Formats: sequence, C-alpha cells, structure tokens
Amino acid sequence: MTRGDKSIEMQETAKKTVFPEDFQWGVATSAFQLEGSPNADWATWDPVLRDHPQITNHYAVFREDLKLLKELGVNSYRFSVEWSRIQPRLDTWDEEAIAHYQEIIDILRSYNIEPMVTLHHFTHPRWFLERYPWHRGESIEKFLRYTEKMVSTLRNVRYWITFNEPYVILIGGYMDGCMPPGLHDVPRSLVALKNIFTCHGKAYDIIHRYVPDAQVSVAHNMSVFAPWKKWNPLDRLLKKSANYFYNHSIINAFRTGVFIVKFPFSRAVEIEVPIKDKLDFFGLNYYTRIHLRFNPFKKMGVELRYLDIDGHGLTNLGWEVHPRGLAKVLRYASRLDVPLIITENGIATHDSEEKVKYMKRHVDVVERCLKDGLDVRGYYYWTLIDNYEWLQGLDARFGLYRVDFKTLKRSSTSAATYYSYLIQSRSKI
Ligand code: GAL
Repeated sequence: MTRGDKSIEMQETAKKTVFPEDFQWGVATSAFQLEGSPNADWATWDPVLRDHPQITNHYAVFREDLKLLKELGVNSYRFSVEWSRIQPRLDTWDEEAIAHYQEIIDILRSYNIEPMVTLHHFTHPRWFLERYPWHRGESIEKFLRYTEKMVSTLRNVRYWITFNEPYVILIGGYMDGCMPPGLHDVPRSLVALKNIFTCHGKAYDIIHRYVPDAQVSVAHNMSVFAPWKKWNPLDRLLKKSANYFYNHSIINAFRTGVFIVKFPFSRAVEIEVPIKDKLDFFGLNYYTRIHLRFNPFKKMGVELRYLDIDGHGLTNLGWEVHPRGLAKVLRYASRLDVPLIITENGIATHDSEEKVKYMKRHVDVVERCLKDGLDVRGYYYWTLIDNYEWLQGLDARFGLYRVDFKTLKRSSTSAATYYSYLIQSRSKI
C-alpha cells in the first residue's frame, strides 16, 4: 500500500463487515480478450488485431498471470474457454487446447480459487459464423455439441456461465452491426435470440446432467437508463422502453418462459423460450448509466450520451461512473429469487486512483444492498490485466495490472493493492 492509500486503509478498518464469509471475491476475464485466437471470427473482424494477434500473450504465459490472482487474494476467478481454439474446424476437437484450460482449472484449485467458466464470450469459430450463425436453426445443435464436449471433459468446475451478455451479442451483431455477423436485421435478431435462449435452456440441463451440484447462469449486461431531457415525454418513453427491454425482459423470460419484445410505437411480440427457472444464480455485469433520446439520423433511431451527473467523472470510454445504479439493477434482478452475483464491474482508465475509487464506491453499494437484505453472493472486478476491448482496441485499460503492449510486461497498480486490501478487510468477521 502506498502513502496515498492511507486514508482508504483507515476507512476500511473502521468498518464492520456484512459480507458473508463465503462471499465470492473475484476478477473476470475472457479468453479472446487476453489471448486472441487465429480461428475466431473476431481475429479478422478488427484490423487492430493484425499487429497484436496474441494480444497479451496470455495463452503462453498464463501460469505467470494466474499467480497474480494469488497475489490479489481472490477466492474465485471467472474466465472463458475459447470455442475457436477448442473446435477450430467443425470436425476437429483440439485436445491440447482443452488440456490447456483444464490446467488453468487445476492451478486455480491448487490456489483454493473457485473457477467460474464462461462457455461463450462473444467469439465464435469462423466456421460457425460462416455456416451456422445464430439466426440459423443448426446453430443450436452446434453449440450444444461444444457445450457437452466441455462439460463432459473439464473436471472440477461447479460455476458455469453459458452466454456472456446475450443482448449485447444481438444488439452488436444483429441490430447495430458493430460485432460479427455485422447485420442490421431486427427480425433475424429475434430468431437469433430465441436460438441463444434455447441453447441456454438445453445447456443448463446438460451441465446438470454431468455436474449435479452445478451453479449455472448467463452473465447479463444491465445498465441504468435515463431520458436525455427529463421534461421531454418522448425521451421518457424511450427510457421506459429501453429499461424494459434491456433489464426486465430477460428477468421475465426466466420467470415465465416467454420473452416479450415491445419497442415504442409497435405491437408487442411474444416469443416462447425454454428457459423458465433454468437459473441457479443470476450473473449481472454492471458498468454505467445511459441517457437516451430518439434521433432518426442515428443507427436504430436512438441517440445515447453519458453525463457526469454524480460528479464521479467519465471513464476512458466516456461512460458515466454511477455507482448507485448498481443498487437499482440488483433490485430489479432480485425479482428472480435466486442468488445474485456481479459477474463484471470495472472502469477503463489510465489513472489507478480512479480505479480505486470506482471499486470502493461500487463495493460500498454492494454492502448497502446486503444490509438491505439482497442476496448478493459475489463481486468480480473486470479485469485482471489490461486487455483487448472489443470496439476500442488496446488502450481502454480496465486492468488491475498494467500491460505494456510493446514489451507485454505486466506491472502492478495501486488498484491491485487496494483490491487485495478491500478483500481482506471486508472478509473479516
Ligand atoms: C462487457 C464485456 C467484457 C468487457 C467489458 C468492458 O460488456 O462482457 O468483455 O469488454 O464489457 O467493456
């Protein structure tokens, strides 16, 4: 701890913790963002990756990187397995790649760190995207074969995330077009959503067949929405619709098995999805609040901006820091009546003191929610080391450890020191 951290230390020691002893303190990563993959759709999607195909070179130096988890003192680690490494061609399983991920799990177990494995974190093998993208029915069987292969092979994993941010896959891939397959096609997005939900429901059963005490969820991205101008009824209507679609429709679908899409000025569409109660906990990723208004000249007719209303500043990506929003989305998610885990929360900034503040403010909110009786079981900071950020390249800087992308050297930041301190102090009885 540096001298600058002293005041934080004092505040921490003065507190009596409400965090349960088995609270999951973790960090979250995704395979592609750390290690790239030559056979992934994203490898050719973003030109930035031409010069950095291995990104942080984590695939080669993972043993060293995993030591950082031990240094931090986390008791859990969320990471993903890269489908395009495991199944580089439709008829090929790469057993060495599977053994690689098993070694990660074994190392984590030897450190007493609980693994949480994400099966799908945005990327696909190229053959999948080219021949069986999500709007095609065959996508279901292909994903489930991969799921069964992983679940039947990997040992000692209880926590599974089937899909990271299914709505981001749809909005990015099928509405806004900024992610593969790069479409602007709402009807297809709904077919894709139904197929993804179907995969989740069936994968839930497959995982439980092999791992009876498994804990399975998606990691859903939740945001707080606000009208661009409070006095404008159209902005308010848009806020309401966005909040329903982005935050609540998935909660309702898990409760009822029906997904209802209702965009402003159009009829509601009801889609049956086999996911009722297929959830052991609910994983949610929370980052920011978004202000909205209609604008026919913008993609999808919606314009968004971030305002620094709370005075906590904007991040490197321009996002508002809005810790209170975390309490709001946790309350929304509590309607599911399953334990809640914050599977991602973090800030892109070069300034690690800003990272410290962000983390402290959000963990304080979690603490208040626990006091209010919400069943929150874990907090995973995004992310361990600086990595590749999907739409922004290599300079977003979410890491607790800094990566110099020229030398690939990792170095600790005060945010890493602070996170270990925070874990220790809040774990005290
Ligand atoms: C999430 C995503 C992560 C990471 C993070 C920061 O939506 O799951 O992969 O990129 O955002 O932007």
